[in-house]
Amino acid sequence: MNDLWLVTGATSDIAVAVLNQMARGRGFVLAGRDAPALATLSERLLSRGAVSAAVVVHDFGETEDRWMACYAHLVEAFGRPDHLLLAQGQLLDSAQSEADGSALMRMLRVNLTSAAQILRAHAANRQDQAFQAVVLSSVAGDRARPSNYAYGASKVALNYLIDGLSLQHPAARCLTVRLGPVRTRMTRHLPAGPMLADLPAVASRICRLISRQQQGTVYVPGRWRWIMQVVRLLPRALLARLAL
Ligand SMILES: NC(=O)c1ccc[n+]([C@@H]2O[C@H](COP(=O)([O-])OP(=O)(O)OC[C@H]3O[C@@H](n4cnc5c(N)ncnc54)[C@H](OP(=O)(O)O)[C@@H]3O)[C@@H](O)[C@H]2O)c1
Repeated sequence: MNDLWLVTGATSDIAVAVLNQMARGRGFVLAGRDAPALATLSERLLSRGAVSAAVVVHDFGETEDRWMACYAHLVEAFGRPDHLLLAQGQLLDSAQSEADGSALMRMLRVNLTSAAQILRAHAANRQDQAFQAVVLSSVAGDRARPSNYAYGASKVALNYLIDGLSLQHPAARCLTVRLGPVRTRMTRHLPAGPMLADLPAVASRICRLISRQQQGTVYVPGRWRWIMQVVRLLPRALLARLAL
């Protein structure tokens, strides 16, 4: 294995924090839509001991066909990735996704259909099936909630994709990280409070999971496993009244 990581949505705050911690000795292909931010990240990873850090500019809100061309190009240019970290994501609340149909479709492309194509390409790329895939998902997929059900739908479908992929390819090492709210750009509209986890702690936890090649589903922070068990048991009428 050449230890080459493909990171999609590489400019995500969580991905950047994880990559900063795991740079040394690894090669990266950093994919995202923000070319200057990707170039800056590439330089930083190289300065932290990365073996290589190539940049591929792609907007995951576009149609998925373009990604297939992009993937073929990156394999030709940089080799076959052994590992995938899938981090792109957009959060629309329910008011936004109900008001703007094209924004809703774009979110579904970023969060779900692009992920389906990337996972498919990553699995097909490794005939030996010895690939690793780490997907950043969300507790929002554990139960439909009034505030963000469309975002949650994209994440529960993502969970099914990665879970099914790991059943279909038992030699693969697939990890779904079900994140509770983390203090990043994505959650800057949320009030600070104990439910919002600190980014460095979350990144360290994800790095530990990656380095021990953890498989299956892991809640980060871990308390969200128990919180969501309670949320799953709430009666529908109560859930509809709560501002969750
Ligand atoms: N933060 C949380 O509380 C939380 C909780 C649960 C799950 N998650 C999930 O964790 C992952 C990372 O989240 P984060 O907090 O790090 O979010 P973030 O900092 O907002 O990053 C989101 C990433 O998605 C990329 N992205 C969005 N739309 C895109 C598009 N059309 N094409 C290409 N890239 C696009 C962004 O690119 P740009 O840099 O170009 O904008 C960025 O790289 C996401 O999948 C998110 O759903 C986050």
